[in-house]
Amino acid sequence: MRVSVLTVSDRCSKGETEDKSGPLIAELMGKSAEVVCCRCVPDERAQIEAVLTELCDAQKSDVVFTTGGTGCAPRDVTPEATRAVIEKEVPGIPEAIRAESLKITPRAMLSRAAAGIRGQTLIVNLPGSPKAVRESLAVVLPVLDHAVETLSGRTISCGKE
Ligand code: MTE
Repeated sequence: MRVSVLTVSDRCSKGETEDKSGPLIAELMGKSAEVVCCRCVPDERAQIEAVLTELCDAQKSDVVFTTGGTGCAPRDVTPEATRAVIEKEVPGIPEAIRAESLKITPRAMLSRAAAGIRGQTLIVNLPGSPKAVRESLAVVLPVLDHAVETLSGRTISCGKE
């Protein structure tokens, strides 16, 4: 599985804060997947959309994780940029992440994260903090192999587990 990571943060992109969440996703995913590309952009829709498109179409990622920019702050636009580049939404992924995360913190309801498909790539928004990344990845990891398998059209049988 080819995985790419996009950190969306004004401060990290300027070097004012160290990006901890992007490298954490790369580290956690690197145990079971090939991490092909890690990028960081500010909270600017056009830049997020351009890099997401590149990570899907040119880098041929199976999965792109974004981290950050999913909340209610004025500059948070990651879900809007994601919806602009995907062809189909996969609402169950952010629904499940929010449902599980709400058991940990009520603040989970403040994440507007989206997920969806562009071509043969699944894009999943994760919140920005390393804590939220760990908690959210734990929810989505168990279905990732099957998601990528179905996306590629390789699935022979479904619903046997
Ligand atoms: N989800 C989990 N699992 N754990 C968390 O600590 N933090 C929340 C939420 N989702 C959190 C979480 C908070 S405080 C915010 S503001 C939103 O994610 C949006 O985060 P973002 O703007 O960094 O993407």
